Amino acid sequence: MDSELPLPTRATAGGLSIPSRSYIRRNPIVGERIILTPMEPDDGAEFWQVVEASRWHLERWLPWVPFNNTPEASQRYVEACAADWNAGRALRLGIRDPDSGALLGIVGLDSVVHLHRACELGYWIRGDAAGKGLMTDAARALAQFGFDQLGLVRIRCAAATDNYASLRVIARLGFRFEGIARQAEYVGARWVDHAIFARLSRDA
Ligand SMILES: CC(C)(COP(=O)(O)OP(=O)(O)OC[C@H]1O[C@@H](n2cnc3c(N)ncnc32)[C@H](O)[C@@H]1OP(=O)(O)O)[C@@H](O)C(=O)NCCC(=O)NCCS
Repeated sequence: MDSELPLPTRATAGGLSIPSRSYIRRNPIVGERIILTPMEPDDGAEFWQVVEASRWHLERWLPWVPFNNTPEASQRYVEACAADWNAGRALRLGIRDPDSGALLGIVGLDSVVHLHRACELGYWIRGDAAGKGLMTDAARALAQFGFDQLGLVRIRCAAATDNYASLRVIARLGFRFEGIARQAEYVGARWVDHAIFARLSRDA
């Protein structure tokens, strides 16, 4: 990996610099125990298998899970990931085991607003990989990449007020609590309030 090379990026009106998917494929974002690579159109079958194997673990917290109910829906998702990255709207990366390359989950910078240099951090991990500190590793690596390489100034992150595993991850990444968004999502047949957090590039 030639991660020492300067990133070949496309500067945008708001000052963010988005590297190409092919560059990050060749130079993955590296955490302590995982690597992150862009989700690609040929990841559809693997994505479907991971979602199928983890429905019970994911559907309580993620409203899209019941709608990702066919291999074709998974294929549409990975194609949207590639298109959104190319348009600078969102960077969604597969969390992969560095040895086997197996897909463990997704971490992404969504709702990228170039003018404000801001975005939202989102993530999930397959059930059999949870509870091992891998999401803390993955989200920390991506947030750092966002500040250092993309030029982000603010990353927002939200979690249901009773999603304790996610709240632990957010706390460890140094995000600061900003408030509660009431009835922010209808998920798992109930309304959930969101705790809203953000980290700024200037935060220690
Ligand atoms: C939330 C999620 C991403 C966390 O991933 P992970 O790899 O398990 O996270 P980590 O192992 O890095 O950290 C999890 C922390 O939560 C804690 N935790 C896990 N389950 C918990 C529970 N039910 N109650 C309280 N704490 C819990 C763990 O002990 C750990 O904290 P610690 O290391 O301080 O002990 C994962 O559980 C997941 O994908 N959940 C379903 C989808 C989801 O909720 N996505 C986020 C939406 S905001």
